[in-house]
Amino acid sequence: MYSRFARPLLFRFDPESVHDLTIRLLSYASKQSLLLNWISSNFPVSDDRLRTQVMGLDFPNPIGLAAGLDKNGLALPIWEALGFGTIELGSVTFKGQSGNTKPRLFRLPKSSALINRMGFNNEGSTVIATRLSLLRDSGKWPKIPIGINVGRTKTVTNNLAPEDYAKSMAILWPYGDYFVVNVSSPNTLGLRDLQASAALESVLNAINKVRDNLGFKPILVKIAPDLGPSKVEEIAGLAHKHSLDGIVATNTTVTRPGTTKRFNEAGGLSGKPLSELALQTLRTLSTITDLPIISVGGIFSAQDAYARFTAGASLIQGYTAFVFHGPTWVRDINQGLIQLLNRDGYKNISELRKSKAT
Ligand code: FNR
Repeated sequence: MYSRFARPLLFRFDPESVHDLTIRLLSYASKQSLLLNWISSNFPVSDDRLRTQVMGLDFPNPIGLAAGLDKNGLALPIWEALGFGTIELGSVTFKGQSGNTKPRLFRLPKSSALINRMGFNNEGSTVIATRLSLLRDSGKWPKIPIGINVGRTKTVTNNLAPEDYAKSMAILWPYGDYFVVNVSSPNTLGLRDLQASAALESVLNAINKVRDNLGFKPILVKIAPDLGPSKVEEIAGLAHKHSLDGIVATNTTVTRPGTTKRFNEAGGLSGKPLSELALQTLRTLSTITDLPIISVGGIFSAQDAYARFTAGASLIQGYTAFVFHGPTWVRDINQGLIQLLNRDGYKNISELRKSKAT
């Protein structure tokens, strides 16, 4: 239905306006109990084969909403109702900011891809923490684990980045079940330089102090797909050294693989053309670390998802596929995963992962 009717209509309009309207509608829907109940009884796939425990947290299924779609945490209840096993809101920065000038989001329908240079447009950690606090008080707080992705404020230089990340995290700490340190978005000048060892160590030291003071929660680092194996290995080493709990791989790419070569808008490319790079990064990571990996980048089908678990992912996420496939994306993947597990005789996702790791 979405592909035949809604998508052709929505794709006639400017991508960011459609995105903003969608978030506004979903935010409204998140407050309507009857509607939420109806969606929750029709969309989620509840099945023990999909349940998984990662980083000490229980996920009803291993499919997450990737960071960037609900940056301000406006529609958390609806994501759960649609059947997501987890949501990563953000990226949130310490200070609210409007992001880069528009247009900054582009569709590549033939390639099932997006290019964005949003630049962390978000309301800032204090406003978002207040919203999350109100949601908690309203009794509509989701039961699925909530991840909060934190980025660096645009006007802050990299030498002051550790403090900037730490301040955001401290404000948001009561609301996240896990936190993601984003040092890999290509749209904030200099941000990816924080993937260099010394800079990353300073950020991780500052964040770990927050955790020491406020109580344990899992922390992951989100990396770019454009690093190459030795750099990936170096970051995995730092993740171990600083007691991180996982790695999110990957963010969007600044390269233009495959058919999108000629599309020269600046920004990060996501969707199908990113798939191979994200899978390669996952493969590199799984040979060098036993930390949980959340694989993201170009996952459209249940087969794509299955291949990521086979390659060692503990959880997966998507953004672009949701835009192209619509609200049934999670349900379709979860149903497809059950069929694939049955076909190959695995009891559940964890068993599939373990069988491939040995
Ligand atoms: C993103 N992504 C992203 N990631 C992040 O860590 N913080 C962010 O604020 C954003 N913002 C954002 C905006 C838009 C418009 C897109 C398309 C993507 C990256 C996203 O979380 C994911 O890593 C990539 O999009 C790759 O996954 P998909 O889209 O191929 O499933």
